[in-house]
Amino acid sequence: MTAQHPLRGDVAVLVPAAGLGTRLGPGAPKALRELGGAALLVHAVRRLAQAPSVGCVVVAAPPGRVDEVRALLDREVPPGVTVDVVEGGATRRESVAAAFGAAPLSYEIILVHDAARAFVPPDLVERVAAAVREGRAAVVPVLAVVDTIKRIDESGHVVATPERSELRAAQTPQGFRREILEAAYRAAGDDATDDAGLAEQIGVRVFCIPGADRALKITRAADLAVAEALLRDDVANLG
Ligand code: CTP
Ligand code: MG
Repeated sequence: MTAQHPLRGDVAVLVPAAGLGTRLGPGAPKALRELGGAALLVHAVRRLAQAPSVGCVVVAAPPGRVDEVRALLDREVPPGVTVDVVEGGATRRESVAAAFGAAPLSYEIILVHDAARAFVPPDLVERVAAAVREGRAAVVPVLAVVDTIKRIDESGHVVATPERSELRAAQTPQGFRREILEAAYRAAGDDATDDAGLAEQIGVRVFCIPGADRALKITRAADLAVAEALLRDDVANLG
């Protein structure tokens, strides 16, 4: 309405959701496991779609489950937000690349968000998008680490103890100008555990913004208990 108002719907979010959830224990692929009556992926997509910047969501589904995932997400997003589902790959990187390939070229701001971070606050999505819109090439939400982190060698001995105050834990959504993410994925590097890591490998300066406790990655069974508490809290806040 006013010149200062941020652009709305100018962001596409890629959602890798094709992982097995091995560390969670036996069961369905992690993104399809239910909490509070809905799959983790559904919780994630609902929250992404609540962020006004998001105009498009592209999900990389577990192999062979594209139609099922499409049906799950039908009617989960408000009018004006499009959802597409493609088949994911054997690695997170392949899944992100598959989703990226299906994102409309008109989106110049691309976020990548793990389905496993199912309770991401829409406000965090907005803050990442805003930082890219304001000119940052690559943006990653981070939290201070609570544990002291050790670098170790193959024999199990400590090699170094990095200064904790200089360390941060990286979350998602991570945000990129389209051409930056494109170049990062085109480059050969293979050993990054997140998308910002791939951008770093091609020399991009990655900008950090404050992350959110609620954007925790559901990885092990104990994380499900935390997630359940977050969900109860959300429901209570809604009324
Ligand atoms: N992911 C993906 N495709 C893969 C592997 C992972 O899309 N081949 C996604 C997961 O679905 C998840 C995100 O990447 O949303 C982060 O991965 P992680 O938390 O490691 O999930 P999983 O790989 O499913 O879990 P695990 O490593 O315990 O098997
Ligand atoms: Mg994994």
